[in-house]
Amino acid sequence: MLALDDAESQSASHTSTKPKKSAISRTIVNFLLDALLLAIFVALAAAALILRFIFPPATQADGWTLWSRDYDQWSAGCFNLFGLFALCVLVHVMLHWSWICGVVGRQISKWRSRPVRIDDAAQTVYGVGLLILLLISLGVAVAAAALSIREPPL
Ligand code: HEM
Repeated sequence: MLALDDAESQSASHTSTKPKKSAISRTIVNFLLDALLLAIFVALAAAALILRFIFPPATQADGWTLWSRDYDQWSAGCFNLFGLFALCVLVHVMLHWSWICGVVGRQISKWRSRPVRIDDAAQTVYGVGLLILLLISLGVAVAAAALSIREPPL
């Protein structure tokens, strides 16, 4: 695990006033992750455009290759890139989770006209809860597709 040292990590901990000893600055971690996100996003966009507009439609793409990869290999590569992108977005959002909870807390404080502070434990519970909710939604969508797909008529 990385030890983090900037203002966000200190404000996120709420318990210590001393700056933490760090191996690598949180700003650098964010910067590298954001740069990686951007690079993966561009690669994903390029792969999607190539599959959509350069290859013929999937049903007619048998035998077509681009840079020694056929349609199925490009499609698998595109999916792998998506998986990597999703993982990086997850880490990116985790690194900004206390910021997101701060914004939500301030908004709720305004609505209720009294200060509402989402503490570290509650932030973790809401984060894990949201992740579970998103995974369930994804599971429901994929299950609905699996149950609804039809084979071509003979
Ligand atoms: C191509 C993908 C993305 C790129 C290149 C990107 C880049 C960035 C950059 C440069 C920052 C400011 C620096 C930092 O604190 O890291 C940032 C902040 C942030 N991003 Fe992203 N981001 C991406 C996707 C997302 C997604 C999908 C979400 C949410 C689902 C998200 C949520 C946030 C939040 C909450 C912040 C903090 C906002 C703030 O401090 O004002 N980002 N992002």
